[in-house]
Amino acid sequence: MKPIFLTQFLIEEQRKNDQCGADLRLLLEVVARACKRISLAVGKGALGGVLGDAGTGNIQGEAQKKLDVLSNDILLEANAWGGHLAGMASEEMDEPSIIPGEYPKGGYLLLFDPLDGSSNIDVNISVGTIFSVLRAPEGIDPADSKAYLQAGATQVAAGYAVYGPSTMLVLTVGTGVHAFTLDRELGSFVLTQSNLRIPEDTKEFSINASNARHWEAPVQRYVDECLKGKEGPRGKDFNMRWVASMVADVHRIISRGGVFMYPLDAKTQAQGGKLRLLYEANPMGYIVEQAGGAASTGRERILDIQPHKLHQRVPVIMGSKNEVERVVAYHREG
Ligand code: AHG
Ligand code: MN
Ligand code: MN
Ligand code: MN
Repeated sequence: MKPIFLTQFLIEEQRKNDQCGADLRLLLEVVARACKRISLAVGKGALGGVLGDAGTGNIQGEAQKKLDVLSNDILLEANAWGGHLAGMASEEMDEPSIIPGEYPKGGYLLLFDPLDGSSNIDVNISVGTIFSVLRAPEGIDPADSKAYLQAGATQVAAGYAVYGPSTMLVLTVGTGVHAFTLDRELGSFVLTQSNLRIPEDTKEFSINASNARHWEAPVQRYVDECLKGKEGPRGKDFNMRWVASMVADVHRIISRGGVFMYPLDAKTQAQGGKLRLLYEANPMGYIVEQAGGAASTGRERILDIQPHKLHQRVPVIMGSKNEVERVVAYHREG
């Protein structure tokens, strides 16, 4: 079969999808190009001198890895001059980055987690890049973080790249979820799966069980029931997986079903949760919903949250619809 490259896919999408104009298409191509560069840097590993700590910290209170900083720089630089963006916000930057004065500004905002799962980078486990695209609101300076405080339901596109055994780009422009695999010889992303659907039921869950004693009762109950297997109330055995790179864990769920949880717990309660709403929960939530899954904090739909600050954190429960609904029901029951 003739390969469909990302460019062709996006041009065809532009023809049939009002949400996907030429500017958005260009933006997505530029992000994809940046992801190729990040993939190259990640793939070089120790040979590229890119492993280890940068010796700096970010606003999240995390020690930055060299690759966190490099990936952030690659995304900033690639997206500065295309004329499609008004500004960018990132997990690794305290404040939004505006487009340098010499370049034209466009109508979109790009938000990203430049390197997700960076604690895995030094042990050669999959990492990724997550991004979200919003419309730049009129009358708000894109240097002001208020411009980015839009509910996830208003995203016009979202995607992630996963740097695993192969590099993949998975994206949505509001018409389903499509996956591309990087052909390293050609240097191009090739469509390898279209209209991905997450099975509504699953026998696999994904959670960092070392936090079990800190979870709230509804999550304790859900996981306990899974662990009881065939003999328990669920009447079936469950498997558990935790890569500790959200991109990799959610990619597995998009590929074969499952439920991913980083719920509210006693350790992260003060900051509202562990994962970032604008760079992680919203883009992944949009993709999961577009693939027929569900994404909730346990108490509300993630995409309905009105953000109140740039680096806001939220609890995350996403994946197979019926399992997410069950966890939400347990929260309702208290
Ligand atoms: P990041 O590397 O972008 O800071 O994100 C790490 C996140 C997410 O990818 C993952 O699911 C989670 O942190 C892992 O947390 P634990 O180390 O607590 O399991
Ligand atoms: Mn981080
Ligand atoms: Mn992350
Ligand atoms: Mn990150």
